[in-house]
Amino acid sequence: MTKKYTITAALPYANGPLHLGHVAGVYLPADTFVRFLRMNDADVLFVCGSDEHGAAITLRAKKEGVSPKEIVDKYHGIIGKAFTDFGIEFDIYDRTSSALHHETSSDFFKELNNKDRFIQKTSEQYYDADYNQFLADRYITGTCPKCQSADAYGDQCEKCGSDLSPTDLINPKSTLSGQLPVLRKTSHWFLPMDQHEGWLKRWITDGLLDGEQQHDPKAWRNQVTGQCMSWIDGGLKPRAMTRDLDWGVKVPLPEGEGKVLYVWLDAPIGYISATKKWAKENNKKWEDYWLKEHAGDRKLVHFIGKDNIVFHAIIFPILLKDHGGYILPDNVPASEFLNLEGDKFSTSRNWAVWLHEYIEAYPDKIDELKYVLTSIAPESKDAEFTWKDFQSRVNSELADVMGNFLNRTIVLTHKYYNGVIPAGHKRDERDEPAILEMRQIGERIEALMYKYKFREAQSEMMGLARLGNRYLAENEPWKLAKTDPARVETIMSVSLEITLRLSIAAYPFLPATSKKIQSILNIEALKWADYENTKLIPGNVIQKPEILFVKIEDDFVENEIGKLQSKASKPSKFKPMKEPIDFDTFQKLDLRMGKIISAEKIEKADKLLKLTVDTGIDVRTVVSGIALDYAPEEIVNKTVLVLLNLVPRKIRGVESQGMVLMAEDEDGKLSFLATEKEFLHGQSVS
Ligand code: MF3
Ligand code: ZN
Repeated sequence: MTKKYTITAALPYANGPLHLGHVAGVYLPADTFVRFLRMNDADVLFVCGSDEHGAAITLRAKKEGVSPKEIVDKYHGIIGKAFTDFGIEFDIYDRTSSALHHETSSDFFKELNNKDRFIQKTSEQYYDADYNQFLADRYITGTCPKCQSADAYGDQCEKCGSDLSPTDLINPKSTLSGQLPVLRKTSHWFLPMDQHEGWLKRWITDGLLDGEQQHDPKAWRNQVTGQCMSWIDGGLKPRAMTRDLDWGVKVPLPEGEGKVLYVWLDAPIGYISATKKWAKENNKKWEDYWLKEHAGDRKLVHFIGKDNIVFHAIIFPILLKDHGGYILPDNVPASEFLNLEGDKFSTSRNWAVWLHEYIEAYPDKIDELKYVLTSIAPESKDAEFTWKDFQSRVNSELADVMGNFLNRTIVLTHKYYNGVIPAGHKRDERDEPAILEMRQIGERIEALMYKYKFREAQSEMMGLARLGNRYLAENEPWKLAKTDPARVETIMSVSLEITLRLSIAAYPFLPATSKKIQSILNIEALKWADYENTKLIPGNVIQKPEILFVKIEDDFVENEIGKLQSKASKPSKFKPMKEPIDFDTFQKLDLRMGKIISAEKIEKADKLLKLTVDTGIDVRTVVSGIALDYAPEEIVNKTVLVLLNLVPRKIRGVESQGMVLMAEDEDGKLSFLATEKEFLHGQSVS
């Protein structure tokens, strides 16, 4: 019976490139599993796409000073290309800004609302009066009430993993203005998660739903079941499924004006939208991949990182069940975290190895990276990537074990037989243990793959190469070449059989290498079933050997560590650098020293002063937001730096004809730029 799977990989936020932590935890294991399933002729759909809504995007846009649309377009492109170049073979890489996704998630919401699965509730929420915005999720930070970490977000503490609401935070602070927020009333649609505890518990711990066995609960990773149960045991709380924001999927109800769907409601529905798009383009029916009635015993599997567990194992299943008709996940193989050279990966500190940069630098070392990332995959506990370890695994495992075995077998076949595959003779007790072990390795790999233990499965694959080396070392064909050519033929035919199996077992992990070996053997795209049965045909000719893995030198390691350290920014309370500009753009700024000749408050605007500035070439009015930091009389006669050629703009009815430059500290306090020397006003600055 064909196995049927719908495989999803967490939709990455389109707010930055992918780093090796993402790859090792989610995308590589998903791709490895899918390759294995495809070798088994399973009916698999593998979907992913960019997650383009939520505070992750809008805050990034604000930081870079561009629109959210520009952010998602930019990173959707970078991420999508990196996946293609790295050989992650999704059937579709979609995006949640698409019209089809807006329609799909909006209909999903309407259906749940029609079925009364939400509770509409008005409550007090934090509000930033300076920015006129409600503060949910990452728009608010404060001290975690559970672990006292100082920088917990409004939805989650990243330190201890607790689920939080903004009102749980101690000393809440707006991430927009840095100010203490105020409380204001607003109305939202809540998912009453508390009402779902009963069935969730049975479904997660026993795999039972409506009295039916849905999945094997023992197949779930301990930490996944553990995290879910600790959530449920701690008591699930109603969670708002809408937000007061303008970036996202609009709430499709008249009362929802100015509100959008919570990103964690719309994003997982993105898996369904992606399926719809793919189905349309490929003449398939999306329902076959998602709806119980059509999908039958199809397994839905979500590959994610551990910070996504609650959304995929609790919230999304509630939504799918509430909607009705959908299959629920069969497994949620979540990874722990990968660290880098003794520290956490950090986008903001630029402590990361970026996938697209690695690919650009080492386009011929893709399988090497895959191998190392699977070897250290954080399947059951946090793991660490270091360049030293990368070097040692490539050199002592890929090159010295696998490369060495393959090379010896191929070279000897050419040396003894001009590349013609020998038939061999009767195998005996010197060969049988190796042949038996070869078969058992195949069985073990297969079992491990279905248990989502890719790290161990890959190590079994390397075990096959070790077995080959051991077999050659024990049988020493090079010593028998003259005296016992018949025996040498047998030894070489066994070695070539191991080579063939190695090419099959390598495919899920090292697809490019697998293809290279198969092209040397002059065979193509073998299936997993061939591991049992295939034989090389005696008399056929194999190709010349080629170098499969080049050793990594010490200066490669030093260079990478140096790059990492020089790019990393120190932990900083200040804003990160903006996008670079070219020199011509800079030269367009007309900066001058100007002298403030008078200053007065602007009525009903606490922050603004109207300044009259002598620029040396004219006298003009500049409106400046410094009233909280300076009294008008303090600044008269000061020489200040002014940007003259800013397009004039009306502020509170006054036309501002330039901008006075100021330094801003981490709390938003402004100061004039102090200079050591007195300048004449009118002097230009460049
Ligand atoms: N963008 C989320 C993250 O990076 C993952 C979203 S997964 C989905 O953590 F299911 F919501 F799509
Ligand atoms: Zn905490």
